[in-house]
Amino acid sequence: MPKKVYAMTKKELTSRQESQSQGYFVHESAYVDRPCEIGSGTKIWHFSHIMKDAKIGENCIFGQNVSVASGVVIGNNVKVQNNVSIYTGAIIEDNVFLGPSCVLTNVINPRSQIVRHSLYEKTIFRHGTTVGANATIVCGIELGWYSFIAAGAVVTKDVQGYALMMGVPAKQVGWISRHGIPLSEPDADGIMICPESGYCYKEVEPGVVRCLDLDEEAPLPPKKAVGRVSYNDLKGK
Ligand SMILES: CC(C)(COP(=O)(O)OP(=O)(O)OC[C@H]1O[C@@H](n2cnc3c(N)ncnc32)[C@H](O)[C@@H]1OP(=O)(O)O)[C@@H](O)C(=O)NCCC(=O)NCCS
Repeated sequence: MPKKVYAMTKKELTSRQESQSQGYFVHESAYVDRPCEIGSGTKIWHFSHIMKDAKIGENCIFGQNVSVASGVVIGNNVKVQNNVSIYTGAIIEDNVFLGPSCVLTNVINPRSQIVRHSLYEKTIFRHGTTVGANATIVCGIELGWYSFIAAGAVVTKDVQGYALMMGVPAKQVGWISRHGIPLSEPDADGIMICPESGYCYKEVEPGVVRCLDLDEEAPLPPKKAVGRVSYNDLKGK
């Protein structure tokens, strides 16, 4: 019996050639509509769909069954876990992590009979934000840099940078470091130390926490970018 050979269509061939020449990877089961921008090193896995006019940076990962709508802007090194839909109106800065099956929204009061395409709300995910598994982000808000949304939370309001948010509706339960470790109470000088990195943090004005050792947008030194101790062993130290 002659071996069956799958012949790629011209469109598939062009898509494949384009991704290869631009240095990103698209799994054969994924769809990428044109035109759109995808940075080098980015990987788009099984059954995902990138719609036209999406703009995606370098070294991102889109897991299985991820959808990125038209006009969405995504920075570099963004990790999107399985089953996430990123709707028009989302602006996702560098180093954001979107956990599995988390839900983003873009209309606050959807009704099937009313067309609100021109009214999509903007939702901003600042540098380094983490959204936990199955959390929901109600649209029109801003999640501050390195904020951390716990699994299953429903976020309805702006979130401060480095805030750890939990529950339904989400409330701030503390501050959390860039390394994702809750920060303990400040010392007499107002300093909170991340037990993983040793970096110092301070609430420099009410509600505004800054890292005193590294600019929020500076890359981590490679040695500080690998986890070696478990969360439970570090927490509360
Ligand atoms: C928020 C998180 C980091 C833990 O924070 P923590 O402060 O260390 O939490 P603890 O385990 O010490 O629990 C403290 C309290 O918060 C509760 N809690 C923890 N996580 C919670 C969550 N996601 N939602 C609601 N309550 C939560 C605990 O039950 C505990 O309550 P209690 O004091 O009444 O017993 C973690 O629970 C979480 O949600 N991580 C996200 C995981 C994820 O989605 N990963 C995706 C990639 S796989």
